[in-house]
Amino acid sequence: MRIVLLGPPGAGKGTQARRLADSTGMKHLSTGDILRAEVAAKSELGLLAKGFMDTGDLVPDSNIIAMIQQYIDDPAGVLLDGFPRTVVQAESLDNSLEEAGLPVDKVVHMSVDTDELVKRLSTRAICKNCQTPYNLESDPPAKAGVCDNCGGEVTVRDDDKPEAVLNRMKVYQELTAPVLDYYKSRGDVAEIIATGTPDSVFEKLSQAIGSGVASN
Ligand code: AP5
Ligand code: MG
Repeated sequence: MRIVLLGPPGAGKGTQARRLADSTGMKHLSTGDILRAEVAAKSELGLLAKGFMDTGDLVPDSNIIAMIQQYIDDPAGVLLDGFPRTVVQAESLDNSLEEAGLPVDKVVHMSVDTDELVKRLSTRAICKNCQTPYNLESDPPAKAGVCDNCGGEVTVRDDDKPEAVLNRMKVYQELTAPVLDYYKSRGDVAEIIATGTPDSVFEKLSQAIGSGVASN
């Protein structure tokens, strides 16, 4: 299966994709996580991406499309988190999957109101090593600054500063909201309200995907 998780910054895509990958064995493909690893490694792509990411702008489509090609036909199935993020990326994904004879099985749109998104992002921290997300108020690591999952250092993302958050919301409306319309026009989008506890959101997400699978 190939499942696309769509939603604004802070909607919980990473939190839920990790859970879903753990419970299904599917590959979690987060373009944000891959890019942050490239930035940490100071690779050519990382050096290029950093300037865009720090201000909350998108990395150019051509770089992103080249970066994800190797992952999309993983036989375990793929959970796409943070990709596609522009209509150009969505069209490119369709073309690549068509060549491989594979469909997008389900698109899930996770919606959360803006005040809640801003609150979540202003209190988020992530592991520098494995990128597990935490919330410093509602879901902190057991030992301050240390990842429960791998023991790595838990820090605040540069793009969770207020100015970058505002720009990320604007960029989402301008460039990523049309991706939702792109998939809606094909009629294969499940809508979930991604508020409530992470456990309750996971239940809604599982139901949305389960019903999608049954109807496909
Ligand atoms: P990316 O890393 O994809 O960031 P994003 O889309 O802005 O999304 P976030 O990771 O901020 O939010 P999330 O939905 O994953 O929420 P999370 O689970 O962490 O992209 C970063 C940058 O990389 C982009 O700005 C761009 O520059 C570049 N980039 C990436 N992909 C690209 C692409 N395809 N094209 C071009 N450029 C690209 O949760 C957030 C917080 O909320 C956490 O603290 C969490 O603990 C908490 N939380 C989660 N669920 C709940 C809940 N139910 N209740 C309360 N709190 C919750
Ligand atoms: Mg994320």
